[in-house]
Order: sequence, then C-alpha cells, then structure tokens
Amino acid sequence: MDRASLLALPRLCALWAALLALFPCGAQGNWMWLGIASFGVPEKLGCANLPLNSRQKELCKRKPYLLPSIREGARLGIQECRSQFRYERWNCMVATATATVTATAGPFGTSPLFGYELNSGTKETAFIYAVMAAGLVHSVTRSCSAGNMTECSCDTTLQNGGSASEGWHWGGCSDDVQYGMWFSRKFLDFPLRNSTGKENTILLAMNLHNNEAGRQAVAKLMSVDCRCHGVSGSCAVKTCWKSMSSFEKIGHLLKDKYENSIQISDKEKRKMRRREKDQRKIPIHKDDLLYVNKSPNYCVEDKKLGIPGTRGRECNRTSEGADGCNLLCCGRGYNTHVVRHVERCECKFIWCCYVRCRRCESMTDVHTCK
Ligand SMILES: *[C@@H]1O[C@H](CO)[C@@H](O)[C@H](O)[C@H]1NC(C)=O
Ligand SMILES: *[C@@H]1O[C@H](CO)[C@@H](O)[C@H](O)[C@H]1NC(C)=O
Ligand SMILES: *[C@@H]1O[C@H](CO)[C@@H](O)[C@H](O)[C@H]1NC(C)=O
Repeated sequence: MDRASLLALPRLCALWAALLALFPCGAQGNWMWLGIASFGVPEKLGCANLPLNSRQKELCKRKPYLLPSIREGARLGIQECRSQFRYERWNCMVATATATVTATAGPFGTSPLFGYELNSGTKETAFIYAVMAAGLVHSVTRSCSAGNMTECSCDTTLQNGGSASEGWHWGGCSDDVQYGMWFSRKFLDFPLRNSTGKENTILLAMNLHNNEAGRQAVAKLMSVDCRCHGVSGSCAVKTCWKSMSSFEKIGHLLKDKYENSIQISDKEKRKMRRREKDQRKIPIHKDDLLYVNKSPNYCVEDKKLGIPGTRGRECNRTSEGADGCNLLCCGRGYNTHVVRHVERCECKFIWCCYVRCRRCESMTDVHTCK
C-alpha cells in the first residue's frame, strides 16, 4: 500500500464508524465487511467503495460475482446471532449512540453492528467470529448449488456413487461445502496488524480458531436426504444427496459451543492451552469455541465499549431463564406498562362476497427493565 492510502485509511475508517457505527475499523479491518449487509445492491457500488480491507477488495475485484453471497453471508450471520441471543443480556446489539444515518436501506441500515465484542477476546467474540465465518460458507455454497458460479457447483465427487445392492445412488445436487469453506478461509483468515503495528498473537489465534470452528459446524451438520422411486411409491430405488442444514440449526450448534466454550491461557506459547491447569490434558478440538477474557456482565450501558446495557429491554416476569426480569434486569427491577392491542376478530364470511369482523381490544402487561 502506498503512503497516501495508508494515511487515508484511518479517516475512511472514522467515516465508516460514523456512518454505520461499525466499530471494527483499524485493528479489526477485516470485520468492516459486515457493513455490507446494510447495502441494498453492493454490486452497484463496485469493490472499491465497499467496507472491505485491502485484501478483501483484491479478492472482490477478482471475483465480483461473489458479492451477493458475501452480503448474504453477513446478513445470515448477524440475523442468526440476534436470534440466538434475543433473550440474553448480550443480545448481539451495541449502543446506538452513533446510529443516526438512515440513508442506507435494508434491514441493518440503521442498526449498528458489534462493538466491543469484536476484539475483546470474550465468548461473545468467539460466537460472532464463528457464526459469521459459517454464514459465509453457507451462502457461498448455496450459490454454488444454485448454479450461479462457474468455479463451483454441486458436489461432483459423488456422481455415479452409491450402493446398488442397498438400492440407492447419489443423484440430484449435493451441496459442496468445500468451495464455501475455501472462500470463507480466503476472505476471513489472515493476520491483522493492530493500529500499534503489533499483533496480539493470542487474540489472533483465538479468532482464527473460532472462524474455523464456525466452518466446521456447517460441515458437521451436513445431512443426507433421499427420494424414493419405484412402482407406486415402493421405494425400490432411492436417489440421495447431501445438503447443508438450515442456518438456524447451525446457529443452535454454535450457541451450544458458546455455552461450552473453553477459556485459553493468555500466556504466549507455541500451542494454545487451556487456562485451567488441571484440564490441560483434555484436548482442544477444532470445532470448540475458545476465548481468552472473561465477559463483562452487560448489565449497564457503556457507550465507550458499545455495550447498550439491559435498561429498557423487555423481560418476562414469570420466566426463570435468561429472559426473566430477575436475571435480565440484573436485579434492578422492572417497569410494567399496559399495552392495548386492537385486532380484527370473530370474522364471518357474508354471502357474497365479503368478510365482516369485529374489533376486539385486549390488554397485556409488558415489563421492561429499569
Ligand atoms: C442465483 O442467481 C439468481 C440471479 O442472479 C438470484 O436471483 C438468486 O438469488 C441466486 N441464488 C443464490 C442461492 O445465490
Ligand atoms: C494490539 O497490540 C497491543 C500491543 O501488542 C496489544 O496490547 C493489544 O491487545 C492489541 N490489540 C489487538 C486487538 O490485537
Ligand atoms: C414467559 O415465561 C413463561 C415461563 O417460561 C412462558 O410460559 C411464557 O410463554 C413467557 N411469556 C412470554 C410473553 O414470552
């Protein structure tokens, strides 16, 4: 990179941060791409104008046809993160202090992405990296199977295989995750230099590991579907193909991995080790999620860190779980408001041809954290 563009980078980043409340600038430059989810049609902007780091721009220029999949991958990951964490103190949102821009259309146009979590080395960081890397595998693989790409398609290694004696053969289109995995690695896995010019090798190793754990989750949840053929559904012959699970299932698995994530030692060693000394013998698997630092409790707002706190969040008065007012409000108590719903009800079909309804009102209590 030449000197002029090096100097321009921080300013560009500041601009992006202001526009999309994308904190991951500078050190976390490879996370700028998440901002793509908020672009209506990124293809129209061209690779140079998208929130990508220089290496990703390079890849984008060589493979511009992958832009819709990159955008879809970001969207999938963000949506799944919010869905998996919707009832928890950390709900995959950051403080909205800088989210004032409404110019960009789309579901994430005005909502900021992640803040503190992107480089804090916590379990939440681990989940974000894994789910985003998995989202990219999923969307790119989908696109290959849909025949939208020249360099990948259905899994051709399975063609003509199967077992005649067991009465089935591979057919149809099997999702080929290999290309998606390759692209996700290429796009996301590279060392980052932080603004001080130094790398934090533990955090880097952690992030790369969690990227891979996300991709492994997609591969692990591949399933085999079959269709029967034969006289009147006798199932004498079956055609089978491999397909990826829904992204929701992948999200569930990753949430499970998050809940069982492993804290690693922050001491720099050649290999990552568990922090707990008496557990060091237990191997770390490539599909485990790893973290270095303990999480904050996410209870109170911290604008600097982009933590919105749980004030104003809706809670469930009777639940004992994470969404219960007790836990979600961190013991601060809650306010109750009555919300009036008006809906059409007791609808009758009147011959001919209209439907007549009554207006019904109902009241529900809504509780929000103090
Ligand atoms: C494939 O391309 C078509 C046309 O560009 C698009 O509408 C469709 O969403 C794409 N499908 C996938 C899975 O990328
Ligand atoms: C950036 O480098 C400094 C110095 O090595 C380190 O303390 C800090 O944690 C690093 N930050 C990240 C995000 O890697
Ligand atoms: C609140 O929690 C209870 C117990 O878990 C559950 O049965 C109920 O459906 C929840 N209410 C809402 C509005 O989610």
